[in-house]
Amino acid sequence: MTLSRRQLLRGAGLTAAWIGGGGTRGWVGPEPAHAGDHMAMGKRRPVPLPRPLRAAELPKFVDPLPIPPLAHSTATAPHPGRPGHTVPLYRIAMHEIAVQVHRDVKPTRCWSYGAGMPGPTFDVRAGQALAIEWRNELPANHFLPIDHTLCGADANLPEVRTVVHVHGARVPPESDGAPERWFPPGDAWTAHYPNRQDAATLWYHDHAMGIERLNQYAGLFGAYLLRDAAEDALGLPHGPHEVPLFVFDRILDADGQLHYPTSGVPGSPWVSEVYGDTILVNGKVTPELEVERTAYRFRIYNASNARVLYPSLSGGVPFVQIGSDQGLLPGPVRTAALSLAPAERADVIVDFGALGGQSIVLMSQAFQLMRFRVAPGAVASAWKPPAALRSVPRTPRTAAVKTRTLALDEYQDNEHGMLMLLDGKRWRDPVTEQPELDSVEIWELVNYTGDTHPIHLHLVRFQILDRQKFDIDAFRFEHKMQLIGPPIVPAPVELGWKDTVQAYPESITRIIVRFEGYLGRYVWHCHVLEHAANEMMRPFEIVKPKPRRT
Ligand code: C2O
Ligand code: CU
Repeated sequence: MTLSRRQLLRGAGLTAAWIGGGGTRGWVGPEPAHAGDHMAMGKRRPVPLPRPLRAAELPKFVDPLPIPPLAHSTATAPHPGRPGHTVPLYRIAMHEIAVQVHRDVKPTRCWSYGAGMPGPTFDVRAGQALAIEWRNELPANHFLPIDHTLCGADANLPEVRTVVHVHGARVPPESDGAPERWFPPGDAWTAHYPNRQDAATLWYHDHAMGIERLNQYAGLFGAYLLRDAAEDALGLPHGPHEVPLFVFDRILDADGQLHYPTSGVPGSPWVSEVYGDTILVNGKVTPELEVERTAYRFRIYNASNARVLYPSLSGGVPFVQIGSDQGLLPGPVRTAALSLAPAERADVIVDFGALGGQSIVLMSQAFQLMRFRVAPGAVASAWKPPAALRSVPRTPRTAAVKTRTLALDEYQDNEHGMLMLLDGKRWRDPVTEQPELDSVEIWELVNYTGDTHPIHLHLVRFQILDRQKFDIDAFRFEHKMQLIGPPIVPAPVELGWKDTVQAYPESITRIIVRFEGYLGRYVWHCHVLEHAANEMMRPFEIVKPKPRRT
């Protein structure tokens, strides 16, 4: 089977196999890259759901926004590196739960790390190590459709498998939640989190090989907020004025149950992307949060499988974006709309001080996500953003010892219609990206497809250097790489440390990465979970620096 796949790939070749659809699109700004792509040849269109929930017709803003509770440590564990020392131990169990996603909808079966969905929030300090025992107490059978033809999802494995990855955490490889280190119901796994990194808006989620998209869709994710003294010194809104907002789209049936679409192909239900018409915030459909006339800090997560979100506020109320994936930006950025691909985060301040008595709706394009109802009263004093937040020195290009050019491309596949690969390789092909510990590399992500792929590297943080569009037709028909225009430097909101980057369609996206932390095997992948499940995921390995002659 593997052989025929390979032969197919080799026979097809990069150019002939290019099947991306959609033509040239604007490549900056709020435009969904995936729109219309389901017509592209080879993409698997989901079978429509006969009786969907009509979420748009539900009364809006009738449920309060749930705020996940904090996780607490209940024990200690031996420190992995310091004999005689201990670290706080958190015990987190995964369960099947019923979630009331809306006042008028029957409870929805979900999987969670706690009593609600999303799971509990970790509120932890940089430099303070901790351990988490993740226990799988899920049922033995999955309630969403497994595709056993996908890599690592073989029918002879336990149906329900989990492993937890703290997205954006700098951890040793054995605690990273590698996809193949899954464990079945009844088992547990203890991971160590040194937290030796800057304050950042991290999150934890399932990463089990072959079924990660289903497990996350079922609800397996939560916030992991890392704080430090530099952030404390800024006096940002906190306590009740700091709220994580997990935004994610789902398809619900008329009974309020999660529907994960299938291809209709017997034995192979995988579809290339999942978009839901119901968008939830912290597990509710169009909830409402009552706010005081003051500034709030929101950590906005895109926990969708595939949808890019463009959060904005009604009435032209701006966000002041202060952070992105890996912590604070160099300075605050006033912006009317955010752009968040799956797994990206925005750390924003919204000042309700002058909005007494008003209702402000959080939108994403035409979707109403939730509403803020501001307490009545006169204008309260305005929040003043600090002029500078954190120094984020630009890594100079000259620091890079290597530039890797890595293709993001779509291929025809006889088993799944199509698949997307990183540099033409599959998950189980030999490791080819082996940066030396502490070395700096430039990764040029050459996206030949018509889709934005959010590319995530485990362990590291990186900076975006630039993006440059190229002529896809010149490439397709003349085998030429013809760049269009100069490289475009990132917008101010992309000048912070990142761990996930939007690789725009028909463009080269260049990032610069220092591979610091630990030796060993990690993962990089597209965070469109359907893509990652079908081979758009690769290992990388940090190796010992070779001795250099002086
Ligand atoms: Cu957000 Cu490899 O994960
Ligand atoms: Cu992708």
